[in-house]
Amino acid sequence: MKHYSTIRMLTTVALGAACAAGLSGCRGDREAKPPRQFFPDLDDAPKWKPQSGSEFFADGRTMRPRVQGAVAFSRVALSEATLAERPAWAAPHLADREALLAADQASATGRDAAGEWLVSIPIAVDKAMVLEGMERFDIYCAVCHGYMGDGKGMVGQQWAYPLPSFHDEKYFDAAQQTGRDGYLFNVSRVGVVGPDGVAKMPGYAHALSERESWAIVAYVRALQQSRRGTLADLTEQERGIVQRQWGVRTSNAGGNP
Ligand code: HEC
Repeated sequence: MKHYSTIRMLTTVALGAACAAGLSGCRGDREAKPPRQFFPDLDDAPKWKPQSGSEFFADGRTMRPRVQGAVAFSRVALSEATLAERPAWAAPHLADREALLAADQASATGRDAAGEWLVSIPIAVDKAMVLEGMERFDIYCAVCHGYMGDGKGMVGQQWAYPLPSFHDEKYFDAAQQTGRDGYLFNVSRVGVVGPDGVAKMPGYAHALSERESWAIVAYVRALQQSRRGTLADLTEQERGIVQRQWGVRTSNAGGNP
């Protein structure tokens, strides 16, 4: 009996030592074999890469198509608690959600129920939106269309197809298709494809939300207005500001009126 318990004790100690050695290993040693994994957790969890095949789904694709007719409610999780505790953080997400929910036929396609291009932007435009449009325009459109929208961007001048100027009447005369807000919105998203199927201008729907596309339209309108507007369009106070700035600029430029 005594003998048996001694053996057991020795075995336990030996096993314990072996385990400890196995666990500690020799740090820094290189080893061609995969490491021992006592607790593999999710080290070898299966993952599927975009565009790869799957045996799990009947259609053989790992990427799942969007559910038809589903309307996104928000891009981030917004709980009542977050809304109450962090209103400043939540504000842009709320605006985004509003835009998503308002993504009815008109604001998603730029066309009215009869299929005609909308004459004006279907969502509320404010100064922040115009500035947002300026930022997006300068990032995505100015390389070709120029910061002034005159078609003289660095890439635009070398582009395979001639660039139009947004100051051309056809882009602000609402009597023409091309002058309507919905038309400009659509071009920003799908680009321009020639009759031969070649894209003369790429679409930017992958990079711009619908709201951002409308913001760009608002900014293009501001660019157009910057050339067509007159002092008479301004309020008394705004006129004073512009005239003062004009005075400063002309005196800096050597008094050339
Ligand atoms: C890579 C160059 C390039 C970029 C970037 C580009 N465009 Fe264009 N765009 C063109 C060309 C070229 C045309 C003229 C196509 C044609 O021949 O009708 C054009 C035409 C247009 C037209 C007039 C379409 C018509 O039917 O007359 C609009 C509006 C327009 N672009 C808006 C945009 C907006 C908004 C962006 C940014 C989101 C943008 N473009 C970015 C190259 C570009």
